[in-house]
Amino acid sequence: MLLLLILTSSFCAHVLAAATKQTCSLRPLGHGKDDTDQVEAAISKCGHFGTIAFAPGEYNITRKMTWDLVESHIDLHGYLSFIPDIEYWLDANNTYRVIFIQDQASWFVITGRDFVVDAHNTGGIDGHGQTWWSYYSDNNITREDGDGRPVSLTLFNVTRGTIRDFRIEAQPFWCNAVAESSEVLYDGMLCNATNTDPDYAGQNIVPNTDGIDTYRSDHVTMLNWDITCGDDCLAIKGNSTNILARNITCRGGNGIAFGSLGQYEQLNDIVDRVDLEDIAMIRLDPQVQPNMVSGVYFKSWDGSVHGTPPTGGGGGGGFVSNVVSRNVSLDQVTEPIHLYQTNGGQSGDLPSTLQFSNLSFIGWSGTAERDTIVDIECSPAAPCPNMLFEDVDIQPPSGEAPIYTCMNVVSQTGLPGEHATGLF
Ligand SMILES: *[C@@H]1O[C@H](CO)[C@@H](O)[C@H](O)[C@H]1NC(C)=O
Ligand SMILES: *[C@@H]1O[C@H](CO)[C@@H](O)[C@H](O)[C@H]1NC(C)=O
Ligand SMILES: *[C@@H]1O[C@H](CO)[C@@H](O)[C@H](O)[C@H]1NC(C)=O
Ligand SMILES: *[C@@H]1O[C@H](CO)[C@@H](O)[C@H](O)[C@H]1NC(C)=O
Ligand SMILES: *[C@@H]1O[C@H](CO)[C@@H](O)[C@H](O)[C@H]1NC(C)=O
Ligand SMILES: *[C@@H]1O[C@H](CO)[C@@H](O)[C@H](O)[C@H]1NC(C)=O
Ligand SMILES: *[C@@H]1O[C@H](CO)[C@@H](O)[C@H](O)[C@H]1NC(C)=O
Ligand SMILES: *[C@@H]1O[C@H](CO)[C@@H](O)[C@H](O)[C@H]1NC(C)=O
Ligand SMILES: *[C@@H]1O[C@H](CO)[C@@H](O)[C@H](O)[C@H]1NC(C)=O
Repeated sequence: MLLLLILTSSFCAHVLAAATKQTCSLRPLGHGKDDTDQVEAAISKCGHFGTIAFAPGEYNITRKMTWDLVESHIDLHGYLSFIPDIEYWLDANNTYRVIFIQDQASWFVITGRDFVVDAHNTGGIDGHGQTWWSYYSDNNITREDGDGRPVSLTLFNVTRGTIRDFRIEAQPFWCNAVAESSEVLYDGMLCNATNTDPDYAGQNIVPNTDGIDTYRSDHVTMLNWDITCGDDCLAIKGNSTNILARNITCRGGNGIAFGSLGQYEQLNDIVDRVDLEDIAMIRLDPQVQPNMVSGVYFKSWDGSVHGTPPTGGGGGGGFVSNVVSRNVSLDQVTEPIHLYQTNGGQSGDLPSTLQFSNLSFIGWSGTAERDTIVDIECSPAAPCPNMLFEDVDIQPPSGEAPIYTCMNVVSQTGLPGEHATGLF
């Protein structure tokens, strides 16, 4: 009886959707033309209960754009090419501010429910980042959180959305963000922030080009990612729960971050149940990207408040727990496993009360550039219970002995005791 009911209702839903199904297709208008109008028209006609096919090529996007998608399927065979007009995008009126944390800007927001955007590995977004990176370096402009550089692809207020085989070339700033969303699947994502300006060879002029930042989101799955960046490959920020990342290649940058957390005094940041599996960190040619900092690192602001977000902050509480990293390979990483709770700190500050617990590191291999393989420095106000290390076998520079440091750790399993220091 129950089964029959389910079958009947899904049959009705199917017939209803089919009856109202709209199909749109579009192709680029060509050089010098603006595609924004035709893209918005297709989304408004077919974005609910429809399908949209973008033919290959470059779609010239000249202003901010939201796709509101409901039970729809988008085949994006080409690239949305966001004009590299920096002054234009930095005007706050020309971007959205849907990402609460650090007041980050977005030029392209996808929202809605039950959709698939499939870029077939032939399309996605062209961010023209080189123009941005060189501009900031040529003019010696300081880059700060919330300064208006736009996130390339923002998912906001999404329920059951899929992004598939999507390429983001040259993100100027964060490549992806997912905020206030649940049941999001990213299967196949390429982000590539690679400087090719010879004036800056050997420097990291692509800071803040994070692969993704997750915030206030539940059940986010990231499969088959290939991220080249100068910052966090993945950044798990406050209120990210039930996160799975599997088969992630990080080329250059800072590694996988938890944080920063505790930036907002009045908000607890909760990070719970995160699984990282089959992760590879690859150091690039230092002329292309000099940094390959961590495998996984955890950071919170300290317990005192210094200024206000987006650039200042601190004093926020919360916890990070039940994080498992499994099968992680490292290629000449500087600080493989690192935890610190002194972001934004000054001498005499209060210690952070944000607690890290139940962190597991299983099946880590590869090479490090320094002897300190594990450096876990928990806050004295929130010592860390249940740190587990299993098959962590990372080689320091040749002939040297690994160093494992644990400070304010309540209990750990798996590290040789003679190398560990601090409270147990
Ligand atoms: C994009 O459209 C603008 C007009 O809004 C035009 O000036 C510009 O040349 C176009 N860019 C490309 C690459 O076609
Ligand atoms: C942004 O738009 C608001 C409201 O339209 C306006 O008051 C403000 O002057 C604009 N700001 C800029 C920098 O153009
Ligand atoms: C760049 O700016 C910083 C301050 O923001 C200054 O210390 C530095 O000297 C400047 N460099 C150049 C080459 O002008
Ligand atoms: C989020 O989406 C729902 C519909 O799915 C809508 O009712 C709600 O207003 C949206 N919230 C925001 C903040 O946009
Ligand atoms: C990223 O872009 C650079 C420069 O265009 C290129 O050399 C490199 O192969 C690209 N990386 C990936 C993983 O596609
Ligand atoms: C891992 O992801 C890459 C794309 O980054 C893909 O080419 C490869 O097939 C994936 N491997 C597996 C085992 O799925
Ligand atoms: C996270 O969720 C908790 C409730 O579960 C809430 O109190 C807190 O303000 C949220 N934090 C953020 C950053 O939204
Ligand atoms: C470990 O991860 C790598 C990708 O980094 C993958 O090729 C390999 O199959 C994984 N090994 C196991 C045992 O899952
Ligand atoms: C940490 O793990 C233990 C044992 O599995 C569990 O009892 C505890 O609730 C976990 N802590 C948190 C904060 O989830």
